[in-house]
Amino acid sequence: MALQGKHALITGSSRGIGRGIALKLAESGVNVGVHYRQNEAAANDTLAKVRERGVDGLTVQADVSRPEDISRMFNRVQAEFGKLDIFVSNARPEIPEFYQPLMDMTLEQYDMAFDSQAKAFFLGVRESARLMPDGGRIIAVTYSPSGRTGSWQPWGAMGAAKAALDSLCRYFAVALAKRGITVNGVSPGATDDSVLNGLPPEVFQAIKDWHESGWTPVGRMGTPADIGNAVALLCMEEASFITGQIIHADGGGSIMDPVFPLAIQQG
Ligand SMILES: NC(=O)c1ccc[n+]([C@@H]2O[C@H](COP(=O)([O-])OP(=O)(O)OC[C@H]3O[C@@H](n4cnc5c(N)ncnc54)[C@H](OP(=O)(O)O)[C@@H]3O)[C@@H](O)[C@H]2O)c1
Repeated sequence: MALQGKHALITGSSRGIGRGIALKLAESGVNVGVHYRQNEAAANDTLAKVRERGVDGLTVQADVSRPEDISRMFNRVQAEFGKLDIFVSNARPEIPEFYQPLMDMTLEQYDMAFDSQAKAFFLGVRESARLMPDGGRIIAVTYSPSGRTGSWQPWGAMGAAKAALDSLCRYFAVALAKRGITVNGVSPGATDDSVLNGLPPEVFQAIKDWHESGWTPVGRMGTPADIGNAVALLCMEEASFITGQIIHADGGGSIMDPVFPLAIQQG
């Protein structure tokens, strides 16, 4: 109960990684604003699970690619919670809305990637800082490898948007440091019980096998609870000197060198 009585808003917490973050924060004593875009039943289910953990919360709908929705979401949080101690920007649009090789991509897909990540974070940080006492916590859920690499072609716009998100973490970290508000990113590796579970079963299994084969050193995919634990750690008072960083919660996957076959690397 290290975070007893705090209030958090987590975008995209109706399911997947966002739900894992909501439940871990609830276990630490945090009241949770469960945000969703269209899946109200799933959001209600997350909230019920939050309440089972002895804290309270609310559900709030918004499309984070729409600035007016973001304002409405924070106004609702202000009206119900009165303040906000933790803001986690986690929502990501549905795959068909942005997943396309760059040469075939529509402007709508490109804009959706940037509007839902960089612009939504830009607006969300400024809105949340308005409601935050000194010492608050702001966390972006990113995928940093995709901002640095270029091989996963249909991820091009989202990769570039995640790079912008990572950069904004650093700039906002400096902007808010004097108030003791930390701004960090958490970068999951491939995570079970998330969007990946919507892939064809053989594709999902291939990804799982790949990570278990050693490309994730701990030998497994992540879980939403793993990412929730990383976020909860950053929210603790003891993490007040960590800001402007991207924490890879990925079982070591991001430190693997893809140049040589695994068998050679493992000796
Ligand atoms: N899954 C992975 O392996 C993985 C790896 C690295 C990083 N990540 C990052 O982790 C985050 C969560 O990923 P996930 O796989 O857990 O996602 P997910 O299961 O697909 O859930 C997406 C969430 O975002 C919401 N959402 C979708 N479009 C939205 C929009 N336009 N505005 C507001 N909310 C919207 C959904 O709400 P509804 O339920 O209402 O539709 C849902 O709550 C993302 O930022 C992703 O890039 C994921």
